[in-house]
Amino acid sequence: MTDQLSQLNDTFASKRPKELIRYALEQHDEIAISFSGAEDAILIDMAVGINKAVKVFTLDTGRLHPETYQYIETLRKHYGITIDVRTPDQTALQDFVREKGLFSFFDDGHQECCGIRKITPLREKLTTLDAWITGQRRDQSPGTRSAIPLVEVDGAFKGRQGELIKYNPLALWSSAQVWEYIKLYDVPFNPLHQRGFVSIGCEPCTRPVLPNQHEREGRWWWEDAGHKECGLHAANIISKA
Ligand code: ADX
Ligand code: SF4
Repeated sequence: MTDQLSQLNDTFASKRPKELIRYALEQHDEIAISFSGAEDAILIDMAVGINKAVKVFTLDTGRLHPETYQYIETLRKHYGITIDVRTPDQTALQDFVREKGLFSFFDDGHQECCGIRKITPLREKLTTLDAWITGQRRDQSPGTRSAIPLVEVDGAFKGRQGELIKYNPLALWSSAQVWEYIKLYDVPFNPLHQRGFVSIGCEPCTRPVLPNQHEREGRWWWEDAGHKECGLHAANIISKA
């Protein structure tokens, strides 16, 4: 498998992301795009051009910006797709909020809240899949993403038959290339980008960045830069350890 993966990574390094998406959709019966509500919408644009019935899911933490909720709806209508909006387990969330309040992440870090609002719902969703497609890019985080491959075996989650394949078709693209694509193909984008937001996550944990600030500085800014992964891509940290 390792040889096969490195060959795939070599082959697709010189191809456009859409070609990797095409390959991925052909390989797996149960595969879905994990959409964050930000510029990774270009994955949907590329995939719909290949298969209009492509599966897309998003993790609704309950704490997204109103603009992001509206944007998810805009895309649903624009592409005529079904978006599987996953929500956290209600009992776990209620117990957590009752005990620690709505902003505990500012006191003791984002891991616990992200765990309940994002990671558990993601883990559940992934057990229905053989592979998932993410919008991660190397240029998003020099600390944790500088080596992410185009294709990998997910080191943090399992799929419905055990091994789960993870495709990161935009891994080698820069932010500039993503935005060129958005303009060229008129992809609707989250209006928060017009207000200085670059990387977009939950409302309380995301803020705009200043010119020349790295996009990751707008996420969990009160925490140490080395830990700016919420666990969706925990393998980025595991593989560096
Ligand atoms: S995060 O781990 O810091 O939150 P980031 O916002 O950079 O991730 O997004 C990278 C990729 O993770 C996205 O392109 C998407 O594939 C996935 N992702 C992030 N947030 C979500 C979400 N709320 N729902 C589904 N996928 C997400
Ligand atoms: Fe909670 Fe913030 Fe993580 Fe969202 S990003 S799940 S609000 S800690």
